[in-house]
Amino acid sequence: MKKKLNKIAHDTNFFLKRFVKRQKKSELIIPMKYGLFSGGKKIRSKVLVDVGSIFKINYKTLIILGAAVECIHAYSLIHDDLPCMDNDSIRRGKPSTHIKFGESTAVLAGNSLLTMAFEILSHKDLNLSEKTKINLINKISESSGHLGIAGGQYLDLSFEHKKVSRKRIIEMEIKKTGKLFSFCCVAPLIIKKKSKKEINKFENIGANIGLLFQVADDLIDNKGSLLIAGKKTGKDKIKGKATLISLLGHKNTIKYANNLIIKINDKLKIYGPRSKNLSETLEYILNRNR
Ligand code: IPE
Ligand code: IPE
Ligand code: MG
Ligand code: MG
Ligand code: MG
Repeated sequence: MKKKLNKIAHDTNFFLKRFVKRQKKSELIIPMKYGLFSGGKKIRSKVLVDVGSIFKINYKTLIILGAAVECIHAYSLIHDDLPCMDNDSIRRGKPSTHIKFGESTAVLAGNSLLTMAFEILSHKDLNLSEKTKINLINKISESSGHLGIAGGQYLDLSFEHKKVSRKRIIEMEIKKTGKLFSFCCVAPLIIKKKSKKEINKFENIGANIGLLFQVADDLIDNKGSLLIAGKKTGKDKIKGKATLISLLGHKNTIKYANNLIIKINDKLKIYGPRSKNLSETLEYILNRNR
């Protein structure tokens, strides 16, 4: 699993470095690269490759789609760490982008990474029909805006120090983290022009994988260490974040996460051995410590 993840991270970074290099230079490129290449796991690209292999999509295409997703992810982390949001000074074991370059630069580098995702998906190097590209761009936009990351981040911040129901916590976690995973899970089906019904099924699988990912991140915050996680831990409690842990406790949240894995695997059953890689990724997501 680790080896496969490292290869995907390497190939994604290789594509992104070349993509950036071919563009005209600007002052924002350095903070953008800092947010993009400072050591992320590239787990969203892994999910894309896993689902893509179920539907026999070409690896190179999946890496390009993953690169676009990682740009949006990097933007969301730069903004997430800002003083007006989580106010975190360490990310991936290094100073957060706004600590290193200042707040306004971090905001603008984040914006530029968000739009770079659309540059990648509309670029001629991505060998898909224009119609398919538009459908992909439509989906990734929805995952990032008020119904996705931005909307979820809004809820995350507005729920601080409030008593929030389990249903609302799950809604928040699916929006802020799950929707981008949903994009990773449906992109291969959009390319293969699968039925609405099957696309909806993978939208739901993606939302649950993202929920699992966020719950595991919350568990790391609760019991993990700065040295391994590469970011300050124990902060969710201090900030009064509404998480499933705050509602169910640590142990029951682990149980909840294990049940999510069972639920997702059940939906993947009909794809037989072709879904093995994705199932392996689910285990990694829950058992990781960074
Ligand atoms: C952290 O995401 C933020 C969440 C959505 C929980 P990752 O853990 O994927 O961050 P990197 O890219 O690997 O640092
Ligand atoms: C971040 O969630 C989710 C995003 C969409 C950026 P967190 O705030 O828990 O992520 P970390 O713990 O700072 O990485
Ligand atoms: Mg946050
Ligand atoms: Mg945060
Ligand atoms: Mg967290």
